Amino acid sequence: TTVEWEAESYDMGGHDTYMHKEISEQPDAVDRVLRGRIDDRFSTVHLGGLNLDAREARTIRRIKILGCGTSYHAGLIGAGLIEELARIPADAEPASEFRYRNPVVDPDTLYIAVSQSGETYDVLAAVQELKRKGARVLGVVNVVGSAIARETDGGVYVHAGPEVCVVSTKCFTNTVTAFALLALHLGRIRDLSVADGKRIIEGLRRLPGQIQEILKQEDEIKKLAKRYADAKSMMFIGRVRGYPVALEASLKLKEISYIHAEAYPASELKHGPLALIEPSLPTVAIIPNDDLLEKNRAALEEIKARSGRILAVAHQEQEKADHTIVVPKNETELDSILMGIPLQIFAYHTALALGRDIDKPRNLAKSVTVE
Ligand code: G6P
Repeated sequence: TTVEWEAESYDMGGHDTYMHKEISEQPDAVDRVLRGRIDDRFSTVHLGGLNLDAREARTIRRIKILGCGTSYHAGLIGAGLIEELARIPADAEPASEFRYRNPVVDPDTLYIAVSQSGETYDVLAAVQELKRKGARVLGVVNVVGSAIARETDGGVYVHAGPEVCVVSTKCFTNTVTAFALLALHLGRIRDLSVADGKRIIEGLRRLPGQIQEILKQEDEIKKLAKRYADAKSMMFIGRVRGYPVALEASLKLKEISYIHAEAYPASELKHGPLALIEPSLPTVAIIPNDDLLEKNRAALEEIKARSGRILAVAHQEQEKADHTIVVPKNETELDSILMGIPLQIFAYHTALALGRDIDKPRNLAKSVTVE
């Protein structure tokens, strides 16, 4: 089956493209994923559809997250959030790789399928294979009642609302936020303290306002996009929490501008890609104010020493960078939810400057429901 949003039936609301509309909707979308779920009394969240009681949640030894494209990247951030807040070993893998490698399916592992449409064939097939082998599978899905939502044992709806543009923006942000909720929920059943639970809840509540702050920087980001739009290729770097943000930002740029881009952990630069750095290859660096700030700055120096141009996305102006987009600071664990948003706007304006068909990039489909 294919889920086809009837594009015509969704008003563009004064925006020129669905992508622009969907980027702008993010404060409201994030508000929706939080709504009705926060429990201040116990500093946790309630996830009605999870279908996993506290006793079962305590027996989980590992979490494996499966998705494709942008949903896989959201899963990578989700795995990081689960490890940080719940201290359960977690990782993410492209669903297609997983299903073709005869994976070891372990009864103490909780599997989570991530999908905006809930119809992506590779994800659905992975879910079916897991269920056949007796695994417990949850879904983190946007489209209510979709195939993956129906096949899973329970899950979290991300409530991003309909997403029409082929590339995902608001659903990515909401999916990552939904993972933060799940991580908080699992954390509070296990060892996350009341104080940390409160701190994360307060951080979550700040997100919509902070996203609004980022959206206000559109004019400046547009100017930057025009400056970099002549690049043939771009490098995206980040560390730990910043690395999946780099992966997603590079995917977004590739998908809609057709500029070649790749993402690397900043720590891996010296093991190869540094050879590429020269003035014609700009680097976008994700630099949160976390314990890796100094390490990240050292990477910028390496790039500068080779005359590479640098655009930083950071919590404060970066001296070594040619340009910095300053993003509001949240709790360290939640920073990656915000850091990708200026780069959605950046990719958008780069593609616009190059005259691309933003809502329908060549060769791509909103949901791939065949093998
Ligand atoms: C397609 C789209 C991507 C999307 C991926 C997964 O390849 O072009 O933008 O991330 O499918 O889609 P899903 O609906 O499962 O999140």
